[in-house]
Amino acid sequence: MLQITRPRTVRTVVELRDTVRDWRRAGDLVALTPTMGGLHEGHLSLVRAARRRAKRVVASIFVNPTQFGKNEDLAAYPRDEVRDAEMLANAGCDLIYVPDTSEMYPEGFVTTISVDGVTTEMCGAHRPGHFDGVTTVVCKLLNQAQPDYAIFGEKDWQQLISIRRMVRDLDMPIRIASSPTVRESDGLAMSSRNRYLAADQRRIAAKLNKALFASADHIAHGAPIDRVLSACSKALVAAGFDGIDYLDARDARALDPVDHFDPQIESRLFIAARLGKTRLIDNVPIERTGMTE
Ligand code: PAF
Repeated sequence: MLQITRPRTVRTVVELRDTVRDWRRAGDLVALTPTMGGLHEGHLSLVRAARRRAKRVVASIFVNPTQFGKNEDLAAYPRDEVRDAEMLANAGCDLIYVPDTSEMYPEGFVTTISVDGVTTEMCGAHRPGHFDGVTTVVCKLLNQAQPDYAIFGEKDWQQLISIRRMVRDLDMPIRIASSPTVRESDGLAMSSRNRYLAADQRRIAAKLNKALFASADHIAHGAPIDRVLSACSKALVAAGFDGIDYLDARDARALDPVDHFDPQIESRLFIAARLGKTRLIDNVPIERTGMTE
């Protein structure tokens, strides 16, 4: 019978560091999977990706208040530590780090890590301060855990690129790895926020990824980008979306806009669309998928 060892939960930097230090002294590689809880299969795929790289896997659960805007869903964000811990145990996590807000931001905390350039457009333009909150907390988590690897999901591609930039710019001795977006059976990218969707919204939400993949395929077959993106936005609004915050074709590394398809340059389509109060994001590579062949 498969034996699952329960991971220990620690709540302080001291306990986290003591455990990680002992592992490293024993010669074990350590990987960190930062999360805000509300776990789903996408997070578990990050834990499994961490496992493939390192003998020891730490998952953090911290709903970071500084990355939520004033009118965003901080209070409503799903919190269920018992369920999350159960899922992490089954996925092979060794240690769960659950700091409270005063452990992360003690009295007098005034430092912000701000990555310029790659954070200014797309989600950065629509969620002022969001990426400062993300890079500050991720910098702290990396310093607190001191892992060899940290794993992030490709669904939050702009976040991933911003974190890579920070780690490079600040010479942090940590390898950042990414793991592909995990999708529901109808292609909707998994997200903790999908649970906010009512049944009718959930049906509409499934159209987002389909429109995105089809648009990427058209562009990769040579259709003009501006025309494809404008048709895609209109179709999504006609399908029931309440608004499109952005729909952009960009270079996948520097996140600069691209105005025509060049197979030599890795590029992606990025979208944020609103359904009621829920904001969904997704991104896909611009490549031929065979959808329009
Ligand atoms: O992607 C997330 O869940 C969060 O932005 C992260 C990286 C855990 C930082 O709070």
